[in-house]
Amino acid sequence: MSDKNSSFYLIKEYVKYYFKSNNAHGVHSPFVFKLYNDVVKDRTPFYCFEAIELLRKELELNYEKITVEDYGAGSRKPTGQTKTISEIARSSLTRPKYAQLLFRLINWSGSRNLLELGTSLGITTSYLASVNPNSKVFSFEGDWAIAQTARNNFDKLGLKNINLQTGPFEEALSPWLASIDFKLDFVFLDGNHRYNSTLEYFDRILPHLHEKSIVVLDDIRWSNGMEKVWNELRNRKEISVSIDLFQMGVLFFKQDQEKQNFLIRY
Ligand SMILES: C[S@@+](CC[C@H](N)C(=O)[O-])C[C@H]1O[C@@H](n2cnc3c(N)ncnc32)[C@H](O)[C@@H]1O
Repeated sequence: MSDKNSSFYLIKEYVKYYFKSNNAHGVHSPFVFKLYNDVVKDRTPFYCFEAIELLRKELELNYEKITVEDYGAGSRKPTGQTKTISEIARSSLTRPKYAQLLFRLINWSGSRNLLELGTSLGITTSYLASVNPNSKVFSFEGDWAIAQTARNNFDKLGLKNINLQTGPFEEALSPWLASIDFKLDFVFLDGNHRYNSTLEYFDRILPHLHEKSIVVLDDIRWSNGMEKVWNELRNRKEISVSIDLFQMGVLFFKQDQEKQNFLIRY
């Protein structure tokens, strides 16, 4: 993590975000106003949330050790190290509040073909897959042992619409993209938070998106590189609306929207 991303820096940035961000009253776009009310503000506890969160708790209390390779940004420790499932569950997973926001976003948009880069233990994947059993979730994870644990978790939750592929994104993503004959409705980029890598994944995925696709980047303030990539992507000509939720950034391609960036309080 960069110096810029020290706790002090993040607190300062959060205070700025808090005072600059809007709730529904400050939003003048009907599209974003509706999104704010239906997705950001909504706190309906959907039927599957409880089971997924119980599984998260179980993982946080699982002290079984596995040997893992460190992939991507965050890999400042040597590879082949031993970690407990508990350590991974406590440090790598998207928090319930944000995973549930993704669930609502997918539900709201009716997304059916979903891609996640960075499965980890599969908690967020389970949220993505629980929206609609007829959707398909393609999730990629570099580490074999972590992926195996995720597969067990999908079985525990009875989820049958997840296709988990193991291998470094750099090797696995392009052949998979070349093999698909459908467009992706929803993409969650949550692995390897480096500037060049994130940009590269985005550019590889771009030809497989459509006008109504949604791309979510996690940890947009994790480092200088992630902030830079977020700012570059939201300014791209393909992007109309972008929404900064402090931790996550959401990109919309809808061509009938005025190009605008919203800082939304979540
Ligand atoms: C932050 S975790 C994902 C968390 C998960 N999306 C969730 O919210 O529950 C990132 C995962 O991406 C994997 N990863 C990072 N860089 C990778 C790469 N270049 N290739 C394959 N996997 C990678 C890591 O092994 C790690 O399990």
